Amino acid sequence: MTIAPDHIAGTAAEPLPLADVNLADLDNFADGSTPWRMFHTLRHEDPVHWQEEPAPNSGFWAVTRHADIARVDRDAETFTSTKFTNLEEVDEDQIKKRASILELDGVRHRAMRSLLQRQFGAKVINSYADFLRGLTTKTLDAALAKGSFDFVKEVSADFPINVLARLLDVPPEDNQQLIDWGNRIIGNTDPDYADVLLESEESEKYRDLPFRSPASLEVFEYGRELARRRRGGDGTDLVSRLVNQTPRDGVPLSAQDFDNYFLLLVVAGNETTRHTITHSMLALLQHPEQLARLQEDPSLVPTAVEEFLRWASPVYHFRRTATRDVELGGKHIKEGDKVVMWYASGNRDEAVFTNPYDFDVTRADNDHVTFGKGSPHLCLGNLLARTEIRIMFEELIPRISSIRLTGEVPRVRSNFVNGIKKLPVEVTVA
Ligand code: HEM
Repeated sequence: MTIAPDHIAGTAAEPLPLADVNLADLDNFADGSTPWRMFHTLRHEDPVHWQEEPAPNSGFWAVTRHADIARVDRDAETFTSTKFTNLEEVDEDQIKKRASILELDGVRHRAMRSLLQRQFGAKVINSYADFLRGLTTKTLDAALAKGSFDFVKEVSADFPINVLARLLDVPPEDNQQLIDWGNRIIGNTDPDYADVLLESEESEKYRDLPFRSPASLEVFEYGRELARRRRGGDGTDLVSRLVNQTPRDGVPLSAQDFDNYFLLLVVAGNETTRHTITHSMLALLQHPEQLARLQEDPSLVPTAVEEFLRWASPVYHFRRTATRDVELGGKHIKEGDKVVMWYASGNRDEAVFTNPYDFDVTRADNDHVTFGKGSPHLCLGNLLARTEIRIMFEELIPRISSIRLTGEVPRVRSNFVNGIKKLPVEVTVA
């Protein structure tokens, strides 16, 4: 089948008029090109743009240039995470109940982050290489044997969940449950995934839960049971590390700190890594000459991984809140305003990337902002994600003789996660 131009071949030629740009309208995120057309217009015409939002929200500043994103992300004193990091506006009471390390700044943030820093550092992650390669081989052998299959279901979705199960030291039988929770929680604006939609009245009942999702309660229960079993033991899994250490500021984790930390671990790495793998596969399908280059020279894969991450931009944005009046991009931002870094837009900034709409697996000096930029919150799992993606494509590329798309590629309805729900393919094995 023919593939609709995705991520833009057309964007530069066909940017959306500024008057039609609306980053708060989720319908604009249902296809693979409108978001990129909006970002293009904003970077060129109004790089720090005031975006109105439907009530009860009060609007936000959309920061779309690479340099401005870096400025916001580096300056946690002016642009705090403690007022919440998604677009949803929450009161102080909700913040207290829902805050994870994403919503902390300063000493407490560093202390909480350092509890798991080593587990996500090079030494530990490199020690997973054999496990990851074994898992990848198993996943690919099962999928490729089918010939025709949904790449999301058979390859991208299971893989990061299996890794998470290993990090948490839980049995593989729990994987499907972990996938469903992730979908229901992160997909809270997509009716195909969420049981309670974020914008629905019913979600009021769940206002004190992460992502206003009732699935959060199930994740808490699951995490608490693990914590009960691991407390006082000598395990090296993430839960054992959380329950058997005191943060270096001396303030122990409360039950609620543990719940929210655990939930973040369950949701942070799965959707994001899954969608990156899917977007990368789609990009290789759309650019067969790039796939051929990787087949000819597999040593390019680590360089390609950075391009995959730039291209995929699986997290559209994170939010900060101004702690004082400040100028940014010639705009006057007031204390209390929401300031939203659109990483996906930064990843197509012509000031930083030569031919940003070219998918180029040999791109050097790829300064993408997919994991954040100079932030104290820079993705804790970035090395793990990079390693997973690298090993996946090191194993996948040599196995493919030919691959073609056999159906539609539906998107997640979200302006937070840039997700693909299905990628139907037919593969001939090399
Ligand atoms: C391609 C995959 C991934 C992407 C694009 C991604 C993206 C991000 C971004 C942009 C942030 C910064 C949020 C902010 O500044 O407010 C972040 C934070 C975080 N990520 Fe990732 N992530 C990915 C994979 C993972 C994985 C595999 C894990 C671990 C299982 C993980 C765990 C975390 C955690 C715990 C934080 C919070 C760090 C902090 O607040 O100090 N992520 N991620």
